[in-house]
Amino acid sequence: MALSLIFLLVFALSLCSFFTSIEGRFHGLTKQKYLHIVSKISLPPSPVPALAPVPAPAPQAASPSYIASSPSPEPSSVRVFDVLSFGAVGDGASDDTQAFKMAWDAACQTEFSVLLAPVGYSFMILPTIFTGPCKNGLVFQIDGTILPPDGPESWPTKTSKRQWLVFYRINEMSMQGGGVIDGKGEKWWNLPCKPHKGTHGTSLGPCDSPVAIRFFMSSNLRVQGLRVKNSPQFHFRFDNCQNVHVEMLSIIAPASSPNTDGIHIESTNNVQIYNSIVSNGDDCISIGAGCYNVKIRNITCGPSHGISIGSLGVHNTRACVSNITVTDSVIKNSDNGVRIKTWQGGYGCVSKVTFNNIHMDTVRNPIIIDQFYCLSKNCTNQTTAVYISDISYTNIKGTYDVRSPPLHLACSDSVPCSNLILSDIELLPAKGQFMADPFCWNAFGATQTVTIPPVLCLSEGIPRFVDQTMVDQC
Ligand SMILES: *[C@@H]1O[C@H](CO)[C@@H](O)[C@H](O)[C@H]1NC(C)=O
Ligand SMILES: *[C@@H]1O[C@H](CO)[C@@H](O)[C@H](O)[C@H]1NC(C)=O
Ligand SMILES: *[C@@H]1O[C@H](CO)[C@@H](O)[C@H](O)[C@H]1NC(C)=O
Ligand SMILES: *[C@@H]1O[C@H](CO)[C@@H](O)[C@H](O)[C@H]1NC(C)=O
Repeated sequence: MALSLIFLLVFALSLCSFFTSIEGRFHGLTKQKYLHIVSKISLPPSPVPALAPVPAPAPQAASPSYIASSPSPEPSSVRVFDVLSFGAVGDGASDDTQAFKMAWDAACQTEFSVLLAPVGYSFMILPTIFTGPCKNGLVFQIDGTILPPDGPESWPTKTSKRQWLVFYRINEMSMQGGGVIDGKGEKWWNLPCKPHKGTHGTSLGPCDSPVAIRFFMSSNLRVQGLRVKNSPQFHFRFDNCQNVHVEMLSIIAPASSPNTDGIHIESTNNVQIYNSIVSNGDDCISIGAGCYNVKIRNITCGPSHGISIGSLGVHNTRACVSNITVTDSVIKNSDNGVRIKTWQGGYGCVSKVTFNNIHMDTVRNPIIIDQFYCLSKNCTNQTTAVYISDISYTNIKGTYDVRSPPLHLACSDSVPCSNLILSDIELLPAKGQFMADPFCWNAFGATQTVTIPPVLCLSEGIPRFVDQTMVDQC
């Protein structure tokens, strides 16, 4: 009964699209231009009839494009909502927020619709929350440039300084295009309250800066093909999301820009981050508490602070992170390679993490576990910690910056790391002949092959005492 109602509804909606001129009213594109857009998002070879609402396969299904992995509309049933038709100016200075909001409202209410920010224009958008739920098959197509107000002084007062564009309660959306998201972060990075502005670690801070793009409480998301640069803070943040696929992004900010993580995920599961390039002033990818089933593949990272799990357990909080794979990637000219960092105190665990086939080029700390993470330099040792276990490092080769040891496995006093597995490690100094010794502290595990340098500091077996109650929290 319910199903047939849905069929009727879908049928009625597609009829509507024939009899009303929604397209004519809402966008000024000719069919020609429109087909050009479609070709960019690569439709599958044979269109599925619009009347067959096939459930979308899980996004992890091997599939190169968003449209191909979901029920595809017939081209004629895709509606394009061009922000220009809603009054956007696109001169880089005029406020185009209202046009985007109206285009969003229209697109959100329409199945298989495209909100289009067209090529050749720069759209200035004030901090905005794009709220769902929306109809299925929504595409946020950025072919032009979008940018925020220029710096903290232009930021609207009474608006959060922590986020610029937020996508909230969206189920199923693709953000894509050949365009640019320019975060115009420079004036934020130079605020006197930023940590690097103070002398000897002192500054007026802390101070907020906006995340460029935040997805919050959303699912079945795809972000692909965009160039994103110079965010005031994180470029992307996904929190409390599910089924996230990120592909072919290029994220660029200066190495000196503070906290400009490329992609941060938190309380988010079933994530794939593939085929992307990040160079910035903080982690290329950072994985916070509550993430599981995450696969990261073919990332070129650096200069940066590497790919990180953490920091976890701050202010004695619980953190659970598991089933994370980072594979087939390159990390270059970075402060860290693959890192797990936790604060003293806290509880929970990080487990089942695989770092595989990663090439390091002049990286300080290519392999690092730091359970003494501390920003203020006066953190005290505590009796609890996030438990780290079942971490495997395979086929990690390349060069390290000799200022730090190639492996640094510093586990907490109270909760040793267990089952750290090393194989096919080959890390040579980037300059000179001096080979620094690996560092281990309370690190248990095994080397399965000969490693360069030899890692003799791992303790064998499993740690004598692991407080089971701490481990069972996840
Ligand atoms: C890896 O990602 C780059 C883009 O950063 C892409 O050009 C290349 O084709 C990808 N390689 C594979 C094997 O997918
Ligand atoms: C681990 O995550 C992958 C996705 O990255 C998923 O396919 C797999 O089923 C997960 N494994 C477990 C044991 O949950
Ligand atoms: C660390 O130092 C900061 C400021 O210097 C201070 O506010 C904080 O209370 C100190 N923390 C501890 C644990 O001593
Ligand atoms: C914390 O413990 C580590 C390892 O035992 C030690 O090196 C460090 O000095 C300790 N820090 C403090 C503040 O006690």
